[in-house]
Amino acid sequence: MAVDPLIELRGVNKHFGALHVLRDINLTVGRGEVVVVIGPSGSGKSTLCRTINRLETIESGHITLDGRPLPEEGRGLAQLRAEVGMVFQSFNLFAHKTVLANVSLAQIKVRKRGREEADRRSRELLERVGLAAHADKYPAQLSGGQQQRVAIARALAMDPKALLFDEPTSALDPEMINEVLEVMQQLARDGMTMLVVTHEMGFARSAANRVVFMADGAVVEDRSPEEFFTAPSSDRAKDFLSKILKH
Ligand SMILES: Nc1ncnc2c1ncn2[C@@H]1O[C@H](COP(=O)(O)OP(=O)(O)OP(=O)(O)O)[C@@H](O)[C@H]1O
Ligand SMILES: [Mg+2]
Repeated sequence: MAVDPLIELRGVNKHFGALHVLRDINLTVGRGEVVVVIGPSGSGKSTLCRTINRLETIESGHITLDGRPLPEEGRGLAQLRAEVGMVFQSFNLFAHKTVLANVSLAQIKVRKRGREEADRRSRELLERVGLAAHADKYPAQLSGGQQQRVAIARALAMDPKALLFDEPTSALDPEMINEVLEVMQQLARDGMTMLVVTHEMGFARSAANRVVFMADGAVVEDRSPEEFFTAPSSDRAKDFLSKILKH
């Protein structure tokens, strides 16, 4: 299949002091693709995500979104943050605003939509993530899984070209993980381009086009889930899989 690249990293390097946290990263996420990133703690997964919407700068290499280098500052950077949505482990909702207002806020401030239009769009998205009935509640009145689905609706409200997920289910109680993964599965089916850091191997197997395995700041494997899970080629990946599949 010919890939139409939406996100491309070429020769990307970054240090935190003496720590070489991203080592010569080459990675392509095609339009409509779902790429799952896995790897041991400290391997650079979050840093990788954060470079793609420039929450972290890089020292060398190139990152392009839809064929254009990432903007470095100003309006272009704000635009980038809207085009590449990010969903974190902690949901970061505004506690003193309703669910509806949380989803509408950036539409009004960044996308310059009127309140009515923004609220209409928010209600559509809340419906899509199964929370239409909760629009007027406050975040604290929702479960963790529900709050994370609000965070996803909020990211979608920017009409992003791509979504980055950094361990979106790791702070959730087990019974809430699936409701979030199901929303993500649906987004994948609808053709959203997604880079997902997760240890949910079921999600990787069923939704990912590719699995990227990172260790010590480098991409060690980049293959189909089928190949990766049945025949990982590196000892690092074999070792990692044997550990996480045990529990
Ligand atoms: N702002 C920072 N300053 C200094 N070191 C940092 C900073 N952010 C991350 N690091 C270090 O960079 C390395 C990679 O961190 P990163 O958060 O990208 O790893 P990760 O793969 O996401 O790990 P985890 O699975 O625990 O989330 C770690 O050793 C971390 O301590
Ligand atoms: Mg991380």
